Amino acid sequence: MLARLDFATAALDAKLLTQHGLGLTALDLATRENQPVDLAGAERVANLLQRRLKGESVARIIGEREFYGLVFGLNAATLEPRPDTELLVDLALGAMPAGGCLLELGTGTGCIPISILVNMDEISAVAVDLSPLALEAARTNAVLHGVAQRLTLLEGSWFEPVPPQRFDLIVSNPPYIASAVLQTLAEEVRDFDPLLALDSGPDGLAPYRIIARQAVGQLTENGQVLVEIGHDQAAAVSTMFLESGFDDISVHQDLAGLDRVVWARHL
Ligand SMILES: C[S@@+](CC[C@H](N)C(=O)[O-])C[C@H]1O[C@@H](n2cnc3c(N)ncnc32)[C@H](O)[C@@H]1O
Repeated sequence: MLARLDFATAALDAKLLTQHGLGLTALDLATRENQPVDLAGAERVANLLQRRLKGESVARIIGEREFYGLVFGLNAATLEPRPDTELLVDLALGAMPAGGCLLELGTGTGCIPISILVNMDEISAVAVDLSPLALEAARTNAVLHGVAQRLTLLEGSWFEPVPPQRFDLIVSNPPYIASAVLQTLAEEVRDFDPLLALDSGPDGLAPYRIIARQAVGQLTENGQVLVEIGHDQAAAVSTMFLESGFDDISVHQDLAGLDRVVWARHL
């Protein structure tokens, strides 16, 4: 059914949705392939396949997505963590001093700070989101991965709920899609992802202006900033950080060779 509609990942999607609908592991499914399924189970799987046919992603239907080797629960207010964002985590793990404190702006599922905390024992983190529902997902995920004691979650807009504290590293994967471009995106992004996680105003750069302007006031003396960007935003975002007094700006590419992260430091 999925293959007829030319879904690139039809076979894998069907397998994952069947597993989910029948409550089976991958191994269960492989070993019970030719066994009959009861009517209720078959109906559950059919409903899941119908949702996929309408364009909803498998991760959204199943309610979880893997990121940096960890599973993150999703809800209606969270964007699915993307493989591109793992570059930001790799760079953050190199930039973060032992015993330091991290600030993340726009946490969604909490995938960025939770992945960093899981891989660095002695650090702590503060993460902000405007959406209370997204913060619920982040809280559940922090508990699931055993880092809730070291992660403070705050509701509000960017720096507004953050206490006057200094951080060693500020990271963000903010919304970076210009409002007009949103309508041109793939169906499964446009119709199912939360707009708050995507829309970044008329030129797509509004959150970076706020982060570049206000980061300096919340960083330690040698504090650094890492932001994920859209592939065509490196020059504009780099200029914002230069104008805010950072003098060592570098741009880092993702696995597809596209500009993906801007790193702002002091020489
Ligand atoms: C692109 S998503 C990134 C989510 C997650 N950090 C990740 O990398 O998958 C951007 C996040 O910013 C949040 N957000 C949007 N506007 C915000 C604002 N004014 N203040 C704080 N967070 C905001 C959204 O709710 C969303 O969770």
